[in-house]
Amino acid sequence: MTAATAHAHPNIALVKYWGKRDEQLMLPQTGSLSMTLDILPTTTTVELDPDAAADEFVLGDTAAGPAATGRVVRFLDLVRERAGRPERAVVRSVNTAPTGAGMASSAAGFAALAGAASAAYGLPTDARSLSVLARRGSGSAARSVIPGLAVWHAGHDDSSSFAEPVDAPPMRLVAVSVDAPEKAVSSREGMRRTALTSPFHTAWTASASRDLEAMLDACRDGDFSRIGRIAETNALRMHAVTQAADPPIRYLRPSSIAVLDEVQSMRRAGLEAYATADAGPHVFVLARPADADAVARALAPLGEVRVAGPGPGVRVERHD
Ligand code: DP6
Repeated sequence: MTAATAHAHPNIALVKYWGKRDEQLMLPQTGSLSMTLDILPTTTTVELDPDAAADEFVLGDTAAGPAATGRVVRFLDLVRERAGRPERAVVRSVNTAPTGAGMASSAAGFAALAGAASAAYGLPTDARSLSVLARRGSGSAARSVIPGLAVWHAGHDDSSSFAEPVDAPPMRLVAVSVDAPEKAVSSREGMRRTALTSPFHTAWTASASRDLEAMLDACRDGDFSRIGRIAETNALRMHAVTQAADPPIRYLRPSSIAVLDEVQSMRRAGLEAYATADAGPHVFVLARPADADAVARALAPLGEVRVAGPGPGVRVERHD
């Protein structure tokens, strides 16, 4: 086996991961829960080249820059170490998310890379092994390995920190890409700065753990309203803890706030929807399947909307 391809989708957290216990192993301070979406997949092929002196990373049609290539090479080094194989590789990745849509996610990228690299280098490709490995590239990638709703257990060491499926009622996420610049502070740097300087950080960690327990209960009960309320509160708390960092980190823009306001007025008008946002200006709105089109219509004046449902986990194809 010298080449393999994998497909993975972005995920959006309903209980956020925001803080690391161990940056080397990428262990989070708390568990988190997300929905893997059925839109904007990333496809990655890893082809081993026994004669090459260095790895190569091609993103779309062009060679990736040094920062992205460095992250991919470090990830492949980990795979080579685990597999006990020295070959360098060519990695080709195609991301269908349009630039600026706020969903060009590292989660889908590292989930697909974990799948393709594991198959190419002969490592196990079961969901748990891929989730553990994908986490080392980007924490949230642990969840994109899993279809639909996924809980990522914080764990206490490398092998106990992985994501697995959770049963939940049928839901949609309406992605609203607002007209605002992308994040200036990466999640990695944002988490670091928040932990070091935000006086609310301890409170955030404690409340995120409680939110996860409450969310798992709500999922078990199939209670959409409770799931939505917990998701919205948890997201606003994450944005609060980042804004209290020094220097402050503000991911939400005026156009994001306009979406949050509109979601509130929808609820007042009897259309039940709840908002969440990651480390960027775009907003994701949770709705029941029957309400998703109405929610998308109401939000269309505020940004580019896409209705997403629960998507598949990582899929690996081997090339013999
Ligand atoms: C706000 O997984 O991108 O989207 O582990 O440093 O690569 P690294 O960070 P990343 O952070 C995601 C942060 C978030 C919340 C979440 O997805 O849970």
